[in-house]
Amino acid sequence: MHKELADHFLNPRNVGDAGEPRFTGRSASLICGAHVRFSIQVDESHAISEAKFRAAGCDVLIASASLLTEQVTGLTTAEAAAIGQEGALSPCAQLACEALLDAIRDFSNAARDDWAGDEALICTCFFVSERTIEREIQARGLTTVAEVTAACNAGAGCGSCHQLIEEILATNDKGKMTHNI
Ligand code: FES
Repeated sequence: MHKELADHFLNPRNVGDAGEPRFTGRSASLICGAHVRFSIQVDESHAISEAKFRAAGCDVLIASASLLTEQVTGLTTAEAAAIGQEGALSPCAQLACEALLDAIRDFSNAARDDWAGDEALICTCFFVSERTIEREIQARGLTTVAEVTAACNAGAGCGSCHQLIEEILATNDKGKMTHNI
């Protein structure tokens, strides 16, 4: 095991639950039964002010989750999601990344529901509104979530907005068909 990871296994950091209000994510392996819970506290600028974990599993899982809590503290949820999506070298480390992404999705869903701005907020990771997404779809003739992400970043973080972007694409497509009749 890498020296830094070995140190995190022998002295795991940030074990426990983040303070309230916290956002929680979980992941588990059906193969080995390991499971991990990641919880984060997020400040007004969408930066992770506290990250904690609880895990039952192998040394790689515990060390990876511990390391991840240190890596993401102070980052915005979008930056942390990018780390979670990088893809880990081992399935156990990947489990920790998935729990982190799940916690960020938990935050994003809550932030979207709480949003009180004039325009509906779709992508809380990158603050992209429904109107901006519609504008991009119409101006560029976009038809997929990947194209929307490439055009305006919406969907490039935790992925919790993908379903909503799909719905905007579908509504726009229906509108086009109605105009063509
Ligand atoms: S809300 Fe996270 S990627 Fe859009």
